Amino acid sequence: MLDETWRPDGVIGPREYFITRALDEGNYEISYRTDGRYIYVGLKVKTSGWVGVGISAGEGMRNGDIVFAYVTDDGRAIVEDHFGVSATQHLPDIELGGTSDIVEFGGKEEGGYTIIEFKRPVASKDKFDISLVEGMQTLIWAYGVDDSPEKHVAMGYIDVRLR
Ligand code: HEM
Repeated sequence: MLDETWRPDGVIGPREYFITRALDEGNYEISYRTDGRYIYVGLKVKTSGWVGVGISAGEGMRNGDIVFAYVTDDGRAIVEDHFGVSATQHLPDIELGGTSDIVEFGGKEEGGYTIIEFKRPVASKDKFDISLVEGMQTLIWAYGVDDSPEKHVAMGYIDVRLR
């Protein structure tokens, strides 16, 4: 039962999300729920660096709809809406002429983990976003060791049913 209100407070409550999946031997945990209009995502990753998740276009990072997030040294959560411009690079949608469609977010760093929570529309009008489909969807996931956008220490793919 989902009896907990979603709050982007950096705490992933036991009943705040529908599903939690543990990847990378438990170092990367992704939780999510949808209400038809929005998707709500919680990431809890064993790093003090950046964390990312994206909707795959089937080509690694290229053409992927990527969320790139981190918590600054003074405790502010930064959550950016990115797009995979090539197999090796992603850029903020706003730098590409698109829009940032992460409507609410928050997070914190605690006990060696970076916890990020965000909300975005299931379908956005931005051409740098991928709308969620009915049925299975492939996500890409990754994280780094610090906040600067250096290459991941771990990354991969996961198939999920998001709506
Ligand atoms: C932060 C800056 C990033 C850099 C500099 C970077 C760099 C790269 C590079 C060079 C590759 C090519 C393969 C390799 O050398 O291992 C790659 C592949 C990949 N990246 Fe990133 N990446 C970044 C962020 C991300 C993020 C945020 C995600 C996911 C949300 C991600 C997911 C992937 C995946 C899934 C592949 C695998 C492609 C494949 O082999 O099928 N990366 N990345």
